[in-house]
Amino acid sequence: MLMHKVTTLNQFIIERQAEIPGATGEFSRLLHHVGIAAKKVHREVNKAGLVDILGRVGTMNVQGENQQKLDVYADTIFMDELRASGECCGVATEENEGVVVFDEGGSKEGKYVVCMDPLDGSSNIDANVPVGTIFSIYRRKSPAGEPPVMEDFLQAGTEQLAAGYVIYGSSTMLVYTAGRGVNGFTLDISIGEFCLSHPSILTPAAGRMYSINEGNYINFPVGVKKYIKYCQEIDAASGRPYTSRYIGSLVADYHRNMLYGGIFLYPRTNAYPEGKLRLVYECNPMAFIAEQSGGIATDGDRRVLEIAPGSLHQRVPFYVGSRGMVMKLTEFLSFFNNI
Ligand code: AHG
Ligand code: MN
Ligand code: MN
Repeated sequence: MLMHKVTTLNQFIIERQAEIPGATGEFSRLLHHVGIAAKKVHREVNKAGLVDILGRVGTMNVQGENQQKLDVYADTIFMDELRASGECCGVATEENEGVVVFDEGGSKEGKYVVCMDPLDGSSNIDANVPVGTIFSIYRRKSPAGEPPVMEDFLQAGTEQLAAGYVIYGSSTMLVYTAGRGVNGFTLDISIGEFCLSHPSILTPAAGRMYSINEGNYINFPVGVKKYIKYCQEIDAASGRPYTSRYIGSLVADYHRNMLYGGIFLYPRTNAYPEGKLRLVYECNPMAFIAEQSGGIATDGDRRVLEIAPGSLHQRVPFYVGSRGMVMKLTEFLSFFNNI
């Protein structure tokens, strides 16, 4: 009988530990706890239709958006798991205005901070549309043993030690990078383990999918409007017209484009003059993954990973995906001065 060697997430993390500068078992344990939280959220997302967990809780989060019950649940699960890991001294999430400091037990001595969007795409949850979790891990700047400070969380994306996302889709996957490529693990529910299914993911340099909420077309910068028309033009040599795909869940839209080749765009709009997506816990982690898979992430002017965050919930325009497509877009943006 043929035996297939299965590599679980935990095995993989331990084997790779040596590759991360200065990393110790503590970093591996932190990632391990992220995996556990992801399994717990998977369990709830998958029975969402069965129990009274769908819908809104009737409160608003710090940005005035309706919180869905699963948003709150995912936030609590990840928070509890990161606290229990003892390796993390504080967390910043979409659902909390300020940072949450862990000062109990060993957490105080934790070397790491985590920034995350516990449930991304949650407005779609009632319709069984894929949702995700996005996370980003930094080494703290402040001394261990003291409470973390805002500067620990407002580091540029280039300082990320690791970043990743979980996609709760037709299967649940955890995709992460620690700066040595991107690897994807699919949850095998029969054994309750994330198993390496997508080693060393590389995104195609020339994609054929573009993903944008075209309902906002009127408000887009001129360069984006022209780029969309370019995508729709007929040109057999370059495979145009391209295909339009938009779910409205960043994780799911990004994940599909990374595998097939494509570009995701969220420009400034009237409703969101700075862009909609949050730099610290949405754009930076996705940008790290994108670059590590051979893609590009820009706000139109700057490499996303080099933007110095000014505040936790700061928003930026976000263009991410296949190298060739993002380069082409930036030609249009700079020709029209990104206005
Ligand atoms: P969240 O559910 O965490 O608030 O994020 C939703 C985001 C992102 O997932 C998606 O790409 C974008 O909002 C969709 O926005 P539009 O509905 O404006 O297209
Ligand atoms: Mn989100
Ligand atoms: Mn969210």
